[in-house]
Amino acid sequence: MGGGDGRVGRRLVLLGPPNSGKGTQAEVLARRLGVPAISTGAMLREAVAEGSGLGSRVDGIMKAGELVDDETMAEVVRERLARADARRGFILDGYPRTVGQAGTLERILDEAGQRLDAAVLISVPEEVLVDRALGRGRADDREEVLRERFRVFREKTEPLIGYYRERSLLREVEGDVPIRQVTERIVAALDAGGRSE
Ligand code: AP5
Repeated sequence: MGGGDGRVGRRLVLLGPPNSGKGTQAEVLARRLGVPAISTGAMLREAVAEGSGLGSRVDGIMKAGELVDDETMAEVVRERLARADARRGFILDGYPRTVGQAGTLERILDEAGQRLDAAVLISVPEEVLVDRALGRGRADDREEVLRERFRVFREKTEPLIGYYRERSLLREVEGDVPIRQVTERIVAALDAGGRSE
């Protein structure tokens, strides 16, 4: 494990296209930093599996590769970040995904007297991402749905790159290398530029 982890901020957002490894890295970083990994995709899939009201509202949207509306996501995230385990920090995987969601996150943190330490963008070429999806067996990994998820990423989520760059929070890593190497790159990028004052 790298020696600089102690200086890395603990309120992080992971950005990246579908299958870029956000969930994988969120779990590793969460263990390393001692904070929870919070995946909005996993939370929604759980709601669908449980057949809750939220689950039935979002099921069709997810199967089509579209985004759940910002208001619903604000409720989900506000509630999750209010739990005790997220007080010391969190790795958010899959939220925010729109500029509106980024504003909501800023407000939620502001109300709690907190702020984001960094937004990490994991970049991977699209052909590699398609290959990774093959055989995973998730309902939204069928090729036409995956293409739609890429389109939605480009249209709705890519603007966040500029949003976080303007705020000097963006850290970018190339993610087309083995999982451990991606983690090392993220930790190095955070350590080099993502320190809390
Ligand atoms: P979500 O679950 O967030 O899907 P996604 O962003 O499309 O991301 P994935 O989970 O597919 O991939 P990932 O980047 O986490 O990669 P992973 O680590 O799994 O969202 C699903 C849906 O929920 C959305 O389409 C939307 O409908 C809804 N939703 C969720 N959040 C929302 C929000 N905020 N607003 C509105 N709607 C929302 O890795 C992928 C695969 O690659 C794995 O098999 C893994 O083992 C492998 N892999 C990972 N890293 C590597 C590596 N370095 N080398 C080789 N293989 C690797």
